[in-house]
Amino acid sequence: MTNAPIAMRMGQIKELAQKTGSEIIPADATSEEDLNNLISKSMEILGGKLDFVLHSIGMSINVRKGRHYTDQNYEFTDKGWDVSALSFHKVLQGLYKADAMNPWGSIVALTYMAAQRVFPDYNDMADNKAYLESIARSFGYFFGKEKQVRVNTISQSPTPTTAGQGVKGFDGFINYADKMSPLGNATAQDCADYTVSLFSDLTKKVTMQNLYHDGGFSNMGVSQEVMEKFSE
Ligand SMILES: NC(=O)c1ccc[n+]([C@@H]2O[C@H](COP(=O)([O-])OP(=O)(O)OC[C@H]3O[C@@H](n4cnc5c(N)ncnc54)[C@H](O)[C@@H]3O)[C@@H](O)[C@H]2O)c1
Repeated sequence: MTNAPIAMRMGQIKELAQKTGSEIIPADATSEEDLNNLISKSMEILGGKLDFVLHSIGMSINVRKGRHYTDQNYEFTDKGWDVSALSFHKVLQGLYKADAMNPWGSIVALTYMAAQRVFPDYNDMADNKAYLESIARSFGYFFGKEKQVRVNTISQSPTPTTAGQGVKGFDGFINYADKMSPLGNATAQDCADYTVSLFSDLTKKVTMQNLYHDGGFSNMGVSQEVMEKFSE
């Protein structure tokens, strides 16, 4: 289990590690040195190669500082892209070069549908997610061919987390998605369950996919409930 060293003091990673009997290895996902250390220490602790890896990292400084999409500070944009998108390539390249994955292992990153459709307040994260999803396809080819390892992204419903709540108008946004989705929004627990299924041997031939986990939202035009709101 890992997070940026600076983020360790916030959040509840220590409690989670205790509950799950996991060790924590701090790593800044923009640092190749930290990532290589994370990979080698993980293999040491777990006693061999890895079966699965989850990339669950995202952060936009433009969003945090209230910079509009049409008025980005490009230093913020660069940093956000490095943290949210390029870090996935760095993780994959580190694992690939260290030959750290077991054959038929699985690598997953979390993403959002703003990579395909416009959600104005998602800001530069939309572009970062498009880049992240492309990396899953491009690296997925090499990981599949050379290592029999699959690489996918899960495109999750809006979920009330630290990053989620940072998006302007999040409450309206999450309620809208819920009303549009025939199965309702997928929760964080649902996302964990789906991720475990992608780590299992039951999904061995699924790779290079962006998989929507959103209660059906991505294929909707309009729902009865949303139409009723506009007929009031
Ligand atoms: N919350 C949502 O609505 C939603 C929807 C779809 C996808 N996602 C994605 O799910 C993933 C997890 O986000 P979350 O919603 O749990 O928010 P979160 O803010 O709880 O998680 C983001 C994590 O990234 C870590 N991080 C930031 N910079 C880092 C760095 N340099 N090195 C290592 N770690 C770093 C943060 O410390 C934090 O733990 C993200 O990729 C996010 O985009 C979230």
